[in-house]
Amino acid sequence: MPLTPQSFDYLRSLVLQRSAIVLGSDKLYLAEARLGAVARERNFTDSEAVLSAIRSGGDRDLTRIVIEAMTTNETSFFRDKHPFTALRNVILPELMRVRTPDRCLRIWSAACSSGQEAYSIALLIRDHFPTLMSWDLRLFATDMSEEMVDRARAGRFTAMEVSRGLSPELLARHFTQSGTCWTVNENVRRMVEFRTMNLIDSMANFGTFDLILLRNVLIYFDPAMKKTIFGRMSRHLRPDGYLMLGTAETTLNLDESYASVHSGGATYFRFAQRSLVGSARGEGYPLNDLGRKQRSE
Ligand SMILES: C[S@@+](CC[C@H](N)C(=O)[O-])C[C@H]1O[C@@H](n2cnc3c(N)ncnc32)[C@H](O)[C@@H]1O
Repeated sequence: MPLTPQSFDYLRSLVLQRSAIVLGSDKLYLAEARLGAVARERNFTDSEAVLSAIRSGGDRDLTRIVIEAMTTNETSFFRDKHPFTALRNVILPELMRVRTPDRCLRIWSAACSSGQEAYSIALLIRDHFPTLMSWDLRLFATDMSEEMVDRARAGRFTAMEVSRGLSPELLARHFTQSGTCWTVNENVRRMVEFRTMNLIDSMANFGTFDLILLRNVLIYFDPAMKKTIFGRMSRHLRPDGYLMLGTAETTLNLDESYASVHSGGATYFRFAQRSLVGSARGEGYPLNDLGRKQRSE
């Protein structure tokens, strides 16, 4: 049964409120299909019954499941290729150079979906920057979706997923086949710390990072929320750090404190006035155990 206009409006406002995702009015069929799948999996008579159960307020887990069902989790290994070329040729070598004195590096893949982005960075580091393995290196990956984070943490991918972005050599070197799936090897898996995190929640204690990947998520948010998130990210990015967005995303006209840098087909963002931001933004920001800590020799 199709959703009534009232139910669709309710769903849209629920999703907006809990995730910042703007479900356009043209997304009715998509929403119906995804809600219908939840209804079948959870033995509801139809989509309306799912929304009624949420409205009655008794099932918080159901609300989470419905919101997660409305997310788009499209991702792949080394997605868009150029950003990873820039990471390999420019960003990681430069970060290694400037961080050599404290040998400490923090990377955050925000909105990581099923983990391919974070594992791509781990593979890049393992294969091309082995020195970093003896550094105080932490690679965090977060997503709002519990289902995605569980999948990412398991590091298990279908044949179709590994065929998207991984060369046969990388697959053979870093993955183990079990049945029709491939699992990323333990030495790569343990390089990434996965956790659930909603970008609209306070992230005050999440520390500061040398590199933040915030790719292909802000496209689902409205301009006001994009501004809020850029403002927040600026408190989590080190003054000389790097921000990577999706190819269709930009800080332009949203947050003037960032400037874009074009390099080898990729665009990334850095603070426009790096000499000023140290005291104003990153340095001295309170850190918890996720942040920069003294390296034990
Ligand atoms: C299209 S995927 C992008 C994955 C990866 N960054 C990439 O570029 O390949 C978007 C991800 O954003 C997540 N997401 C959507 N809204 C979010 C929010 N408010 N907080 C955290 N993650 C969110 C979704 O769960 C989804 O996994």
